[in-house]
Amino acid sequence: MRFLVTGCAGFIGFHLTLRLLKKKHNVYGLDSLNNYYSLKLKKKRLKILLSYKNFFFKKVNLVDYTESKKIISIIRPDVVYHLAAQPGVLYSYKNPLSYRSNNIAATKNLLKIIKKIKIAKLIFTSSSSVYGDHKNHPITENFKLKPKNYYAKTKVVCENLIRRSGIPYVIFRIFTAYGSLGRPDMLFSIMLRRIYKNLDINLYNHGNYLRDFTYIDDVTDILVKAYKKNIERKTINICSSNPVKIKDLCSIMMKILNKKFKINLLKKRKGEMIKTYGSNKELSKIFKKNKFRPINLGISNLINNFTSLERKIKI
Ligand SMILES: NC(=O)c1ccc[n+]([C@@H]2O[C@H](COP(=O)([O-])OP(=O)(O)OC[C@H]3O[C@@H](n4cnc5c(N)ncnc54)[C@H](O)[C@@H]3O)[C@@H](O)[C@H]2O)c1
Repeated sequence: MRFLVTGCAGFIGFHLTLRLLKKKHNVYGLDSLNNYYSLKLKKKRLKILLSYKNFFFKKVNLVDYTESKKIISIIRPDVVYHLAAQPGVLYSYKNPLSYRSNNIAATKNLLKIIKKIKIAKLIFTSSSSVYGDHKNHPITENFKLKPKNYYAKTKVVCENLIRRSGIPYVIFRIFTAYGSLGRPDMLFSIMLRRIYKNLDINLYNHGNYLRDFTYIDDVTDILVKAYKKNIERKTINICSSNPVKIKDLCSIMMKILNKKFKINLLKKRKGEMIKTYGSNKELSKIFKKNKFRPINLGISNLINNFTSLERKIKI
């Protein structure tokens, strides 16, 4: 079985690839190594992956159809995990073009290429942000999609492109993944960097955002199982279904670090969802997964593994 992981130097792509490599699979990783955030962090992840003999890496931008086709046609993967994307909600207001290229155009190119080589399964990582704000919770997969920002809109477009492609697929809608060597633009990383520098923590929406944080190992656990499960043409939430208020998260961090830090409560920011709280009933039914890492254990792990490189990153 040959696996292709796009976005293998990214946060989730790295953890997924590592898991596949540890299971002795041959994994072909592609990544454009863009500079949305610290290239040093992406290279650090890549160095770990390259220490495995069963890992093969190629730097390629999926927006470049000719180059991508050349490489993927040689790899001839059986299973494709498509994780390469431009993530981030706030940045989608600053640089929408990056989302149009790296999410929509890149996915179109990939679909065109893999349609020709006939793969067994395409596994795509969509986002909880496609749902937007809803009154009722937890959010199940059949809820109306009300994307609030351009990032979420591009994810909806990608989902639809995949559904129409005729390629056997599973789409996962991930609810805020966190874990070691995480994305520096995400809450945990920003908070830890500021705490270690003795700076104040800014909490938007007065700390009342609720997030359904999902530990990275729980995410990759499902992604790895998905290729051999007899499921296709499915869209499934990946979430712990246990939302936490951001201000409560600060209390958890203070306790673990045994350190007090100053918090500034600020107003809500454009495009951000008030509450993410997904249902994982479908996930539990299909994958027989009922246990998810509790947030306090997940955070302690994150803190214990926070590297000196991550402390220094500016974003
Ligand atoms: N992290 C989360 O909580 C979360 C939640 C929901 C969905 N997702 C989705 O999961 C996927 C992975 O997210 P992540 O947090 O690991 O992000 P990431 O930014 O860490 O990883 C994405 C990787 O894709 C690469 N990339 C971007 N455009 C590319 C292109 N055109 N060609 C080749 N490579 C390209 C980047 O260099 C990066 O290494 C994304 O599709 C994201 O939208 C993430």
